[in-house]
Amino acid sequence: MKRSSSRRHFIQQMSGTALALAATHSGLAFANQWQNRVDGYSRKISPNDRIRIATIGMGIMGFNDTNTALKVPGTELVAVADLYKGRLERSKEVFGKNIQTTHDYREILNRKDIDAVIIATADLWHARISMDALKAGKAVYCEKPMVHQIAEGAGVIDAWQKSKKTMQIGSQRVSSLGVLKAREAIKNGAIGQLAMVVANFDRQSALGAWEYTMPPDASPATVDWKRYIAGMKDEPYDPKKFFWWRNYKEFGTGVAGDLFVHLLSGIHVITDSKGPEKIYASGQISYWNDGRNVPDVMAGIMQYPKTPEHPPFQVMLRVDFISGNSESGGTQFIGSEGVLTLEGDGYTIRHHKMSKAPGIGGWDALETYPKQMQEELMKAYNQKWSAADQKDQSEPDTVFRAPDDFNADLEHFGHFFEGVRNGTPVVEDPVFGFRAAAPCLAANDSYFENKIIHWDPVNMKLIH
Ligand SMILES: NC(=O)c1ccc[n+]([C@@H]2O[C@H](COP(=O)([O-])OP(=O)(O)OC[C@H]3O[C@@H](n4cnc5c(N)ncnc54)[C@H](O)[C@@H]3O)[C@@H](O)[C@H]2O)c1
Repeated sequence: MKRSSSRRHFIQQMSGTALALAATHSGLAFANQWQNRVDGYSRKISPNDRIRIATIGMGIMGFNDTNTALKVPGTELVAVADLYKGRLERSKEVFGKNIQTTHDYREILNRKDIDAVIIATADLWHARISMDALKAGKAVYCEKPMVHQIAEGAGVIDAWQKSKKTMQIGSQRVSSLGVLKAREAIKNGAIGQLAMVVANFDRQSALGAWEYTMPPDASPATVDWKRYIAGMKDEPYDPKKFFWWRNYKEFGTGVAGDLFVHLLSGIHVITDSKGPEKIYASGQISYWNDGRNVPDVMAGIMQYPKTPEHPPFQVMLRVDFISGNSESGGTQFIGSEGVLTLEGDGYTIRHHKMSKAPGIGGWDALETYPKQMQEELMKAYNQKWSAADQKDQSEPDTVFRAPDDFNADLEHFGHFFEGVRNGTPVVEDPVFGFRAAAPCLAANDSYFENKIIHWDPVNMKLIH
């Protein structure tokens, strides 16, 4: 779809109520800003002004992130690091034979001509590489979750602050137009007072449960296993712990670090929250008995305190990897006057207000009283409450959908490179990233230690 027709389509997609809401709250101005940004992705940048990047960790997300980063004008890939030979070979096939490829990310950090690195390794390496990169003077785009352990958070934040470099965490939902518009709607009272958020991811496949295709040549000759486990207790090469690392808590962060963190990132943007103060999780391995030591079915409950930004609310999260519901998921913000459901890059709000009158009859004690008393009660009720007071207060749904050519991943990288180029703040700095990751990692601690975890979201500390 051409840009102008896409913009028209975008406006047509909004219902009358949404348009009214957007117009009152300068939503259309925001949409125009969005269009300016997208227009900017096709501008020309002089070769002298290029940002030279390298990606560390060339797996599924490494390729995706690099491709997205290269769509932002003025970026150039010069090197990649990975621990499996086949992925270095593939990097040359995709990005050209002139890029440097190495097993050792420190060779990349030693290069003076590299401005920024994308870190898309297994979770256990995020903090170490981020801190090394910041110390080497590189800007950092690190995939979520920012850290593998809560204890690593303060070190990364400290390294970032000392470096004065740009760092962004890779939860693209933070840059989603649907999320930003949902934030605006909820702030403007579209669902009344928020009380509960319910969010889930359902999956029903081996790939969905992280059993990704393994390369037939995987062996200690093609995988740098020693470097992978550097700093850990020595253990023999295990292809599952390398290619299916999400299934092992020593390398990954389970469903909480992988998926709850996306949900919390969106929830924190929408509510302006710093995080929960109480976290509880429970789960089990229901189906994928492949040697994994993290649950494939997990639920978490997080209690958010009252703050100047929001009322107290609860977040209930669930992930089910063997769900007869197939591949689906969503987030619902349930307020006193409606429910906002995030859908793709957009939302639907179902409005429903409580009637003014409290109600009488039906499932009530009324009919248990003597006939004459019932009649008197009904008469008094109808005198006190008008027909309008007794009416169900529903309104038509409000729908918002981002335009087809809006891309949250590209937008997220756009924000990052804007920060690198101009020193402007990014939308997901390490403080935001850690505040989204830590409660998820605390959910793992709750599951493994069978207890409620108490967290101070302002000072970002566990409370023992
Ligand atoms: N933002 C998103 O939507 C999103 C989606 C998927 C994955 N991710 C994140 O991206 C990261 C990577 O996930 P993936 O699915 O691409 O995993 P993957 O297993 O496909 O790739 C990880 C790669 O990291 C490499 N690696 C590990 N340790 C390394 C080290 N010390 N030095 C260099 N390379 C190293 C491995 O060789 C492997 O090729 C994870 O943190 C994950 O949470 C984010």
